[in-house]
Amino acid sequence: MDILLNYKRHNNCMALSESVRRVVSDAQRGEITEHFIYKKLSSAVKEPSNKSVLKRISDDELRHYNTWKKYTQEDVNPDKLKLWKYLLISRVLGLTFGIKLMEAGEKKAQLNYDELSKSNLKLESCRKMSSSMSASS
Ligand SMILES: [Fe+2]
Repeated sequence: MDILLNYKRHNNCMALSESVRRVVSDAQRGEITEHFIYKKLSSAVKEPSNKSVLKRISDDELRHYNTWKKYTQEDVNPDKLKLWKYLLISRVLGLTFGIKLMEAGEKKAQLNYDELSKSNLKLESCRKMSSSMSASS
């Protein structure tokens, strides 16, 4: 196979893996931000059953964060602006409103995951290509 063509494919694969890393890192930031939002809401709420639900969601978000961390191998800071925005909204306009607004944001994040799984398929073909190249050399 032509060396230049191989080089171009290799560069495309590198750019793709970088874009996947960025998507995963953004998802990781989203999870840690939500972890802190639910944690703060949980400590602010008095009613015991709401408190425990919020605490459970906060723990779930931390688990999601750690799942992404396995891939990025690095810690990511929460989005402080988003954190304070949702805490303020929940305080001023009520907990239910704040949480519904946040859930709407999560649906938007879902689109990123779809994008990611498409990229993953392309990465898989990159991996196959590079392993067949090293097998033939
Ligand atoms: Fe999550």
